[in-house]
Amino acid sequence: MRATESLELVGVGLANAAWVTTRTGIELLRFGRSSWWWRLRWAMIRAWVGQTPLGVVRREGPASGLSAEDLVYGETLPGTAFDLLEALDVGPRDVVVDLGCGRGVLPLVARLAFGARAIGLEVLEGFVMRGRRAAGLLGLEGVDFQTGDFREGPLPRGTVYFLAGTCLEASSWAAVTRNLADAAPPKARAVSLSQALPSAEWEDLGRREMAFSWGPATVFLHRRRSRSRRTRSAHRAHVRSKGSTGPSA
Ligand SMILES: C[S@@+](CC[C@H](N)C(=O)[O-])C[C@H]1O[C@@H](n2cnc3c(N)ncnc32)[C@H](O)[C@@H]1O
Repeated sequence: MRATESLELVGVGLANAAWVTTRTGIELLRFGRSSWWWRLRWAMIRAWVGQTPLGVVRREGPASGLSAEDLVYGETLPGTAFDLLEALDVGPRDVVVDLGCGRGVLPLVARLAFGARAIGLEVLEGFVMRGRRAAGLLGLEGVDFQTGDFREGPLPRGTVYFLAGTCLEASSWAAVTRNLADAAPPKARAVSLSQALPSAEWEDLGRREMAFSWGPATVFLHRRRSRSRRTRSAHRAHVRSKGSTGPSA
């Protein structure tokens, strides 16, 4: 690597550290009196002692067979997870599914701050293991971290889905959105980042700019359209032929 490239990388790293520190300060002002925020931060620190998300990607990524694009790591900040779940009116009757959950911030916030059941689906075992450890440290039941590939399906059944698919390869995006349309019941809500879900299956509930670990991103809010009678019977046949997993939390 040339010296100029190394310098650029250092610059990007410093700018990102400044962004995350600023956002954490803003969250501290907003959530400093909320016990869920402190408990989550403390559990994450303890669950991740001696390891980083990029370390997990470096160690397990090559054997996963996924492309570099699919393995680009970035994270939803706790305050942003809170705002997203609030925008979708999430409550204790919901089952929130994060497709590609990484460290599991969103499922943990869904359980801790909204009392929803939550599932984090993730292809890299290192994330799943530490997500379970964080849930254990928080004494949480009703949060389930599962190892799986969202391109393959069937996806867990939920009422609210989150897909941070900003960097996904086109073929992975196509596969996961197809599986999502199969799994989501009518009126399920979903959030996707950077691109909207297919309008044939999803109503547009609006878009917002929100803060993520890598910077601001556009968030698309959706509601699953009802299926017509004809699509319903085709869907039932399709799901029967694939099998389906229910939430096991
Ligand atoms: C950009 S990160 C987002 C993490 C988390 N959703 C968040 O917002 O904090 C995407 C995650 O999806 C995972 N991932 C990528 N491809 C996947 C696949 N085919 N099946 C399941 N997880 C996948 C990656 O390992 C990574 O942890």
